[in-house]
Amino acid sequence: MSDNEITLTIDGKSVTVPKGTKVVDAAKQVNVDIPVFCYHEKIGPLGCCRMCLVEVEKMPKLMTACTMDVMPDMVVKTTTDKVEKAQKGVLEFTLLNHPLDCPVCDKGGECPLQDNTFKFGAPETRMEFDRHHNAKATPLSPVITIDRERCIACQRCTAYSERIEQSRDLVMLNRGFKNEVGTFNNQSYDTRFSGNVIDICPVGALTNTEFRFKARTWDLSNTETLCANCACNCNITMGTRLNELMRIEARPNDAVDDGWICDKGRWGHSFVKSKNKILTARENSRGNGGRPTSFPAFPHDCSLPEAVSKVAQAFKKIATEHGPQSVGFIGSPYASNEDGYLYQKLFRQGLGSNNIDHKTYQDTPGLPVNHYGVEQIESSNVVLLIASDPTEELPILDLRIKKAVTNCGTRLVSLNDQKIELDKQASLSVRYNVGSETLALDALTYGLAQELGESASAQGVDATGISAETMKTLVETVRSSMKICVVYNPAALSGGAVSAVKRLLAMIAKVPTLECGAIPAAPMTNAVGAMDMGLLPDFYPGGVSIADQEEIQKQWGETAPTEKGLSALEMIARAEAGELKALLVHRSNPVLDFPGGSKVITALKKLDLLVVHDMLETETAELAHIVLPSNGPAYDEGTTTNIGGRVQARKQALTSELKPDWE
Ligand code: SF4
Ligand code: SF4
Ligand code: FES
Repeated sequence: MSDNEITLTIDGKSVTVPKGTKVVDAAKQVNVDIPVFCYHEKIGPLGCCRMCLVEVEKMPKLMTACTMDVMPDMVVKTTTDKVEKAQKGVLEFTLLNHPLDCPVCDKGGECPLQDNTFKFGAPETRMEFDRHHNAKATPLSPVITIDRERCIACQRCTAYSERIEQSRDLVMLNRGFKNEVGTFNNQSYDTRFSGNVIDICPVGALTNTEFRFKARTWDLSNTETLCANCACNCNITMGTRLNELMRIEARPNDAVDDGWICDKGRWGHSFVKSKNKILTARENSRGNGGRPTSFPAFPHDCSLPEAVSKVAQAFKKIATEHGPQSVGFIGSPYASNEDGYLYQKLFRQGLGSNNIDHKTYQDTPGLPVNHYGVEQIESSNVVLLIASDPTEELPILDLRIKKAVTNCGTRLVSLNDQKIELDKQASLSVRYNVGSETLALDALTYGLAQELGESASAQGVDATGISAETMKTLVETVRSSMKICVVYNPAALSGGAVSAVKRLLAMIAKVPTLECGAIPAAPMTNAVGAMDMGLLPDFYPGGVSIADQEEIQKQWGETAPTEKGLSALEMIARAEAGELKALLVHRSNPVLDFPGGSKVITALKKLDLLVVHDMLETETAELAHIVLPSNGPAYDEGTTTNIGGRVQARKQALTSELKPDWE
């Protein structure tokens, strides 16, 4: 046992836990159930509801297990007559005015108040008077409805707002009997993370407006899967009924989401039932000037396997007639690793082409330092954000950073070209002029090099708009940190700025006594996985460079293409020049997402064959000769890799008649 551990006894069972552990959490280690309402391990103690009273030897009164730290040789008892009487009393008091509308309450079946009453409460009520009534359904925001009659004033939700969101948008109003949850001036409780209060409310007071009265919780099929709306890949439970999505809840995973999801993740999955969903393979009558000559006849009742086989024949024909350079593939940073891997394999081994990409920004696989998981943010004493605005791009990372700054003493440094929400938490916010990120990053690298006596050069520092004094402070902050986590968004860096980030990381790694890691934080769901799977013109899967011919031949055989392929933007340019003949686009929408506007449309229209394989109708699908249906999130299965490099399984929650994309 180390100095940091404490041994105590709970209900006769000995347990050793780290110093600072609350008695209520220590009890869980030995399977002792201490009931709680207000306590939540991520929010911390409140001591509000008194449900967790326990007897502690040598203490004259009952103690709240959620507020008390463990002490050496402490003896805790949770089942004595005194404790049971107190538990019954607290529950009786809590239920005094509770409406007991379990039969129509959305929380019914998964309600801590129901469960605690069943396990620890008195069998019947002594209440003889009419209960106090309150409003049954008041909108707290467009997506949350509060039933004030059911609220037990535990304050979990308001503590969440204060300690986790750090906004205090939700507060306890009034006093005594009139004490209630609300917002200043009755404003809407609109935050990026408001939905978590629904999950943590221990009764049915805070309800999901969209889900209210739609299904009983025990009738739901719950699938443990991942949010597909950004690259945090938060863990969620999709509740479905009769193959219809009913609700989404957080599924806590400390290493990924710390137990929370954002509102985009909770309510942003309506695309699964979109009327725009592509359901069958079709030849596009609105498409790119009718059937291409290379494409075999496509009957209306053509099945998906038949359509796929015709697409394959057409690509093979074009590649044979015009050479492998005439075909290309734009893959998806949203699709699964398996889809991405197999598509690149099809183009490389099947068609002999390295014209494969999934993005319009410059980036290469690999980092000169460790790829940190997101939980490393909490143990870093400096987090450096480069061209990254987590609140907008990767919402749940915002909460992790706030937690690190508030609870772990982490210093936040922002190096951006615009103001970001997290500037409020930053101890240093440095802004560079738009487009000057490479210069700013090189100036920082140069500053560190000077401190280390290394040779380096930086030019055009003045153009960044950063004063010499600020740059000096920035260099000093980085150099003097003991553990630094660099979070950068490659998709927001122009030109070769990602290389400048990597030069900076390599320089930081040279600082003695400094531990350094990085999180490449592009917001697209599987941006990291798409790189790993080799959806790149110059890297095979696993980051094997096109320059490493020996390794490529070893892994992929003699016939594997050895020339660097075209990037996504180069493919568009070659299509415009009439040199690229056929393009397959998988779950990507170049017309909308690529720079160039109408030029992209013109280029795509010049292709002999454009095939779009997607979940929803898009502007690019409108131009396609052939459209193939893709399952997409909720219907598909596979793995995705989050910004922290964690590979997790996305499971199928809704059944589909379509074949999986990878198949
Ligand atoms: Fe507690 Fe729910 Fe009331 Fe908030 S609304 S105080 S979480 S019972
Ligand atoms: Fe989904 Fe991203 Fe929000 Fe997590 S942070 S719930 S992955 S949108
Ligand atoms: Fe301990 Fe509420 S859980 S006081």
